[in-house]
Amino acid sequence: MSDRQREKWDRTYSGDGSYFGTSPSFMAQHAMSVMKNEGCEKVLELGCGQGRDTAHMSWAGFDVSAVDYSEVCCRQVSEVVEEVEAVCCDIRNGLPFPDGYFDACFSHMFFTMNFSMEELKSMVCEVYRVLRPGGLAFYSVRSKKDPHYQKGEHVFEEVWEMNGFQVRYLDEYDIRTLAQRFDLVSVLEFEEGALPKHLYAVTMRRPPR
Ligand SMILES: C[S@@+](CC[C@H](N)C(=O)[O-])C[C@H]1O[C@@H](n2cnc3c(N)ncnc32)[C@H](O)[C@@H]1O
Repeated sequence: MSDRQREKWDRTYSGDGSYFGTSPSFMAQHAMSVMKNEGCEKVLELGCGQGRDTAHMSWAGFDVSAVDYSEVCCRQVSEVVEEVEAVCCDIRNGLPFPDGYFDACFSHMFFTMNFSMEELKSMVCEVYRVLRPGGLAFYSVRSKKDPHYQKGEHVFEEVWEMNGFQVRYLDEYDIRTLAQRFDLVSVLEFEEGALPKHLYAVTMRRPPR
């Protein structure tokens, strides 16, 4: 299926081997400290990009599975982190993992891509399915307090395009709507990059049995 955003990511990653840098994001450092305290081992990363966070989680001893729909970055991740084979698939079509397999699911700036609310809800259901009862879901998204919110070209719903990238902005109401059957553990605010981007760091728990 042709997808202009996927092609844009392929081109971006082909042109720059470390587009988001090589240091772990604040989001990954936050998630790793909670996952260590909770004794998590098997971790799934959604929208891993070139693997800046995948690498650090793997080197910290987590058993990481990574997914992205860009073939270019999946190849790059597997080259950099020998222990991880990044799976190339469009997460809107579901996750190729069994029920209850992971202790935690992590994503940084993935649920903030060009997704409709219905697609987001369906992907969160998939995250719920692949987590064990009591498992944790961590995700970050651009917030409606972000300086780029409502800037550039309006695409649909709360998705806006700037420099060829389509981004969805969320507020706390959206985050509560998305939690669905999860328990919402925390919603923190943080900034990243030169703009700076304004993001929410969300932690949810699949209720224990
Ligand atoms: C903003 S980047 C973040 C990359 C990485 N998490 C990081 O922070 O370095 C979003 C990533 O999501 C991936 N992505 C977007 N839509 C996707 C989809 N439908 N299925 C799988 N991956 C997708 C893109 O290819 C891109 O690598």
